[in-house]
Amino acid sequence: MTATKIRARIAGTGLYVPPKVLKNQDLEQFMDTSDEWIRQRSGIEERHVIEGGIATSDLAVESARIALAEANCTPESIDLIIVATLSPDHQFPGVSAVLQHKLGLETTPSMDLRCQCSGFIYSLNVAKLFIEAGQYKRVLVVGAEAHSPLLDWTTRGRDVAVLFGDGSGSVVLEATEDNVGVSSVVLHSQGQFADRLWVEKPGTSKGVWLTEEDRQAGRMFPFMEGRYVFKHAVERLTQVVKEVLEKEGLSIDAIDHFLFHQANIRINEKVAELLSIPSYKVHSNIQKYGNCSAASIPMLLDETIRAGKIARGQTILMAAFGAGFTWAGAIVRY
Ligand code: UT7
Repeated sequence: MTATKIRARIAGTGLYVPPKVLKNQDLEQFMDTSDEWIRQRSGIEERHVIEGGIATSDLAVESARIALAEANCTPESIDLIIVATLSPDHQFPGVSAVLQHKLGLETTPSMDLRCQCSGFIYSLNVAKLFIEAGQYKRVLVVGAEAHSPLLDWTTRGRDVAVLFGDGSGSVVLEATEDNVGVSSVVLHSQGQFADRLWVEKPGTSKGVWLTEEDRQAGRMFPFMEGRYVFKHAVERLTQVVKEVLEKEGLSIDAIDHFLFHQANIRINEKVAELLSIPSYKVHSNIQKYGNCSAASIPMLLDETIRAGKIARGQTILMAAFGAGFTWAGAIVRY
């Protein structure tokens, strides 16, 4: 008798964004930019930002509670918490530990996974393997980011600041014997390009956490070589879509929905064009939220499900690219 394969199905999803909205026009007050530039180059119209002492874990707990309610389960029934973020509340411990406490839990294991914009797909893979191995039955996976306090809101930082937003998306994964859930996953990274998109300081490199000179040079703000990253993003996303399809033994036609990382609408349009993916299958919400790094894909997943566009039984392909460089693709049967 062959043992039944255990899979990790999506039981519930949640999205949370802080209430304050910054429209492109609002940014013209702080820096030399324009609504036209931001829309044309990225597709972004507005983003949500935190205020009043709110931190990443506060965003995480809100989307987590929604996902738990959707999955019809309590925080106590969660066996493991994974948080993907590049904007933690503190240098350490991770957001996952803070979130665990905010959910009222005592000793549930928790871990942060730092793979920037690919972090949610990496986390999905880790959760899937824990479930398939039988170690845990229910895992909470959260992507959460509070970028806004970390950005340079002056003209010096405009090429990055206008692109990012704050928010969180959560998914409850649980064990099932049905033929659904997270299927093939492909992960990659290439540290050779770490300095093309990074926050160099504060950190232990060069032995000093943050000098006055680092501060003057703005090394604590994100730096991105935009065009270089754009080119790599298109190339790697296109490759990873093909790779994960091949691993699963499927063609583009068999995929109902494509959820790409929300860094720039032009990147995703280019990938869709190169792969001949019909535009109605490619979802986006960058217009409203900007780039929410590790939170973008779970936010988009929740929103697309809630809009009634994704039905149970349908097949989703997720793909992301970001700092590291890291990139990843996953196929999920909802
Ligand atoms: O999530 C991680 C992955 N991230 C990405 O994948 C992002 C990839 N990169 C991009 O999306 C694009 O490269 C950007 C949206 C960042 C920039 O678009 P671009 O078409 O590559 O513009 P550019 O960087 O070549 O800049 C064009 C011009 C420059 O001026 P000059 O040198 O031509 O006079 C910039 O100084 O636009 C200027 N500029 C701005 N102007 C108004 C840069 N930022 C702004 C701004 N507002 N916010």
